[in-house]
Amino acid sequence: MIKKAVVASVLMMLACGSGKAQQTTVAATPPMGWNSWNHFAEKIDDATVRAQADAMVSSGMRDAGYVYINIDDTWEGTRAASGEIQTNQKFPDMKALADYVHGKGLKLGIYSSPGPKTCAGYEGSYGHEEQDAATYAKWGIDYLKYDLCSFDEIMKKAGSPEVAHKLMLEAYTKMHEAIVKTGRPMVFSLCQYGADHVWEWGASVGGNLWRTTDDISDRYDRMSVIGFQQAGLAKFAGPGHWNDPDMLEVGNGKMNVEEYRTHMALWALLAAPLLAGNDLTTMSPETIAILTNREVIAIDQDKLGKQGDRMWAQGSQEIWGRELEGGAMALAIFNRFEWPQTIEMSFVRFGLKDRVKVRDVWAGKDLGTLSGKYAAHVPGHGVVLLRVTQ
Ligand code: GLA
Repeated sequence: MIKKAVVASVLMMLACGSGKAQQTTVAATPPMGWNSWNHFAEKIDDATVRAQADAMVSSGMRDAGYVYINIDDTWEGTRAASGEIQTNQKFPDMKALADYVHGKGLKLGIYSSPGPKTCAGYEGSYGHEEQDAATYAKWGIDYLKYDLCSFDEIMKKAGSPEVAHKLMLEAYTKMHEAIVKTGRPMVFSLCQYGADHVWEWGASVGGNLWRTTDDISDRYDRMSVIGFQQAGLAKFAGPGHWNDPDMLEVGNGKMNVEEYRTHMALWALLAAPLLAGNDLTTMSPETIAILTNREVIAIDQDKLGKQGDRMWAQGSQEIWGRELEGGAMALAIFNRFEWPQTIEMSFVRFGLKDRVKVRDVWAGKDLGTLSGKYAAHVPGHGVVLLRVTQ
């Protein structure tokens, strides 16, 4: 038994290289945390980040599993004469900020681009990859979101799509290797909006997660288009490497409670990273309840790491399923209409036994052992999320 395990792990190391082994240990389940962009955009600074870290603890989010406090674009200053990247005046001391965040039992993430400029026009890492990774490690950074942005210009000059593609892969690999060289584990998040079917090669360039789409916004239409268009990508995700349909908008105010429950449930079915994108210091009880629902988080973080997929759709009605540890299954019955609908499902149709034990997750209620069918009453733009055991 032991011999077998040793042989398996040696084979794995040979197959993957030590960089990949590190990759799996940092994101064995989809990363959970918070990111500054969706709510604060460029209005982010040291004091705000500290306040978010405080609120992540006091709201109970840390205890529910959220770990990363990620600073997105606009922290960057100019480079010193040595080429070393410096923070701008909004972030006077990144090392001190990392110490503060670590002191709360949380981790700190940062953002850069493989291009000369970030999407907001700040300094990118082009030509400074090793130096930047070393600086991040020195500061105590645990997570890097690496956003294509102006690297696009370099790709446009490549002459052919094939060369452009190769340049992009090389740029991501370069930063991955630079991170591995620092010896500090960092989650590596690719952001290039799903170009060139990133799910097919994201893991091969060291990505722990990769954005599959362009940016989300705090609107049901945008969120649902992004979420439901993830159908078919399940086979590309697994422990250490996840599809990323973008950060959460829960609590940002432009969707109603049913729509935010749909957002959270769909992301959990998708084994998506759960990066809250709201202001954690001013959350309503409903927002906290959605973000910290232990049973929804357990679906997202299920150890099998099998992303769910669409199992059935008819017009505005969709049923998505996700296989969970121990033979259980998460079933999400979505109503994409604005008005309520009753959606009926038969268990055997979804590969389940005829008699199953059913729990309504958002209601927090056991529905008992049911036979044959279940008729779900689903609010407009809402979801009924079930955990089914056989
Ligand atoms: C891009 C990304 C966003 C955010 C901004 C920052 O649009 O997709 O998530 O990081 O850049 O400028």
